[in-house]
Amino acid sequence: MRHLVSIEGLLSEQVIGLVDKALEPLNHLNVFPGEFIGLIFLEPSSRTRVSFECAAHLLNVKAVYVEEKGSSLEKDETLKDTILNFRSMGIKVFVVRCKDEKELLELQNISGVKIINAGDGRREHPTQALLDLATLRSFYSWKQLKEKTLAIIGDLKSSRVAQSWSKLAPLVGINLRLISPLTWKPEWGGEWKHFSSLAEGLSGADFAMSLRVQKERHSEEEKAVTADFIKNFQLKAEHLGKEMMFMHPGPVNWGVELHEELQSDPQSLILLQAKYGVDLRRALLSEFFEALPRLP
Ligand code: NCD
Repeated sequence: MRHLVSIEGLLSEQVIGLVDKALEPLNHLNVFPGEFIGLIFLEPSSRTRVSFECAAHLLNVKAVYVEEKGSSLEKDETLKDTILNFRSMGIKVFVVRCKDEKELLELQNISGVKIINAGDGRREHPTQALLDLATLRSFYSWKQLKEKTLAIIGDLKSSRVAQSWSKLAPLVGINLRLISPLTWKPEWGGEWKHFSSLAEGLSGADFAMSLRVQKERHSEEEKAVTADFIKNFQLKAEHLGKEMMFMHPGPVNWGVELHEELQSDPQSLILLQAKYGVDLRRALLSEFFEALPRLP
């Protein structure tokens, strides 16, 4: 894998190999002392950033964190120039979160570095979809997963996680359903059935994943739907029955996309997703560093 900016272009074997590596016990770790990763986060993050830091630490790699405030990005330096300078300092792997979708895609052309997309605007968040998959894989074999249906509920139009999932699901044979008010129906994902009724969309599904309402990205028209969404699409215990497990990429707005009664529900996989976030990112970084020339 040259970079990971999108799920597009990945092969099934690569996805399966990476997820299985994430699930391997820690005693098989290769370590990379003397190496660095650059974490460039131009939008807020808790789980993604910290899990990359934890993953790097486990690999004996030093994580260097850069945010807009306090760096030369605040003085309008481009991401490209920032990365070129950091490359000269010896950083070869960059984890980037930004608002601008095109900017991240352009970084792929910089030679001698590897780029990991940690979320670009409304486009993609490939490592989140992969860690969600690792969470499901921790319960089921690849063969069993091919018979499963995941229902993704909520602000699909703004969700980079859901868009990455729409490309990931076919690579492992998982069936997707997309559930949202019509105003939040995305332009992508035409291959999956869309439901504007929560009960209908969940009927027969094996897992549910709710998404945060991304108010910071909303137009006035998109904002106006939130009250109706809370009334008709908020996930509650009654929708899940006794069996259905549910996920959420976080951060959760309790009382919006998930009812507060689900906060410590045993069918929740949310905290397990955080754990597999470290494992998946460790596997990915390890794969990237294994492919780079070793330090003398
Ligand atoms: C998501 C993101 O930033 O895209 N969160 C995450 O990375 N865990 C989802 C969100 O912000 O709602």
